[in-house]
Amino acid sequence: MSEEFPIKPEFNDKSIRSFVIRAGRMTDGQRKAFDLAWKEFGMSLFDGEINPEQVFGRQAPLVVEVGFGMGDSLLEMCKNEPEKNFIGIEVHPPGVGRLINNAYKEKITNLKVYMADANDVLTECIPNLSVDRLQVFFPDPWHKKKHNKRRIIQPTFITTTLTKIKSNGCYHFATDWQEYAEYMIEVLNQEPKIVNTASDGDYCPRPDHRPITKFERRGERLGHGVWDIIFRKSESE
Ligand SMILES: C[S@@+](CC[C@H](N)C(=O)[O-])C[C@H]1O[C@@H](n2cnc3c(N)ncnc32)[C@H](O)[C@@H]1O
Repeated sequence: MSEEFPIKPEFNDKSIRSFVIRAGRMTDGQRKAFDLAWKEFGMSLFDGEINPEQVFGRQAPLVVEVGFGMGDSLLEMCKNEPEKNFIGIEVHPPGVGRLINNAYKEKITNLKVYMADANDVLTECIPNLSVDRLQVFFPDPWHKKKHNKRRIIQPTFITTTLTKIKSNGCYHFATDWQEYAEYMIEVLNQEPKIVNTASDGDYCPRPDHRPITKFERRGERLGHGVWDIIFRKSESE
């Protein structure tokens, strides 16, 4: 990202972060997308709590995706589930540029995007009891023991976000890192207000709403596993 690029990832100071801002190159298309499409899709952490109905101009189930990467699967979900509103949160500028560029070209109307730390956005911008599905797909595994504390899925992440999820709403996580999958299950199982929806063991087959990615297809060919985890909040909450 060049020095003069005006829009920067937003986050509050904290000692441990689940991301590093990568120096990935921005293509001309991604860069132009910020001029053209940011005002349509972009949201700011520093504007504080939102009213989703006002932001989208309609009342609809809300899906929040943390760390959408280059955004291709989120874009596909916006198209496949037009009856839902989507908020994507990502700190990697080229990924944000790519998503809003494509969303603009495809005239997507059910998407808003934060280029910010998801922990901050979830705490400060997303109202309580507003989210129908909170999804995190292939989060950085931070696989070295000394880096495990940087994983986005932590007991504190669940405590903070559980208040945001509606009754009967769900968490959907997916990972290709078995030890992280086991850790996710351990963390989710600690919370009595949510239950695992898997009918056989801890993991679910990939549900239709999660598009398969190129990276995942390649992994499948190489015999790598993927673990989908869906926990639902009880109705009485
Ligand atoms: C391994 S990538 C996976 C991207 C995408 N979900 C996929 O399946 O291809 C994880 C992404 O999460 C983003 N990320 C990590 N921590 C984040 C945070 N606290 N807030 C926003 N994005 C975050 C990283 O920038 C990175 O793009």
